[in-house]
Amino acid sequence: MRSYWFGVIATYLHLIAMATYVGGSLIMELVVGHAQKSIPPAQAQVMGEKTADRFLLLAWSALGLLLVSGIMQAYAKSVEPMLMGDGLFDSGYGWSLFLMIALWAVLVVNGSIMTFVLRPRLKGKMGAQVGAAQVQARQGHLMKTVRQMQWITRADLVIALLVPLAGAGLLHGNGLFTTGVLAPLGLG
Ligand code: HEM
Repeated sequence: MRSYWFGVIATYLHLIAMATYVGGSLIMELVVGHAQKSIPPAQAQVMGEKTADRFLLLAWSALGLLLVSGIMQAYAKSVEPMLMGDGLFDSGYGWSLFLMIALWAVLVVNGSIMTFVLRPRLKGKMGAQVGAAQVQARQGHLMKTVRQMQWITRADLVIALLVPLAGAGLLHGNGLFTTGVLAPLGLG
């Protein structure tokens, strides 16, 4: 166990970042997404574009802070060698930490797909001289992209709600996996 206040600040930052990510995802899905369904499609598209721009900024900041404060927490608890894989799979605590980091990595991959692949597709503009068929094709393409973004956002929300469970297990000692549960598999 290292400096008391270092540990308190690390936990504070970790919880603030977690609340930002989880709370933000919930608002996007249950409040913004819901409101979008009751306005005309053209307005819903503009609203989706603007809110997603801002939310992605917030989500990336939260993911960055989760990583930094997570490393600080590991250091405060003197378990930082586990972050390099040292003894990570020797205890229920280590398995839960691994789960937390692996799910964080999935959130980062999903965030990258949204930011660098799907968002640029939504932003592309059409030239003035295009026919009705092209406009229709583009509209179909846009709707497909919007649906893909919705599915990734939903998957992120489920993951973001699961990770704090691993955190709660870590806080209470052995993590989610007790040695008893994993012993038959030769793990933990
Ligand atoms: C690379 C990413 C991450 C690392 C290295 C990390 C590391 C840690 C560590 C070392 C602890 C302290 C466990 C203890 O008290 O013994 C912890 C706790 C916790 N983590 Fe993470 N974590 C990461 C990502 C996340 C994410 C993505 C979430 C949720 C969205 C999250 C939520 C929590 C919660 C709720 C706790 C318990 C409360 C606390 O100690 O702050 N963590 N994490």
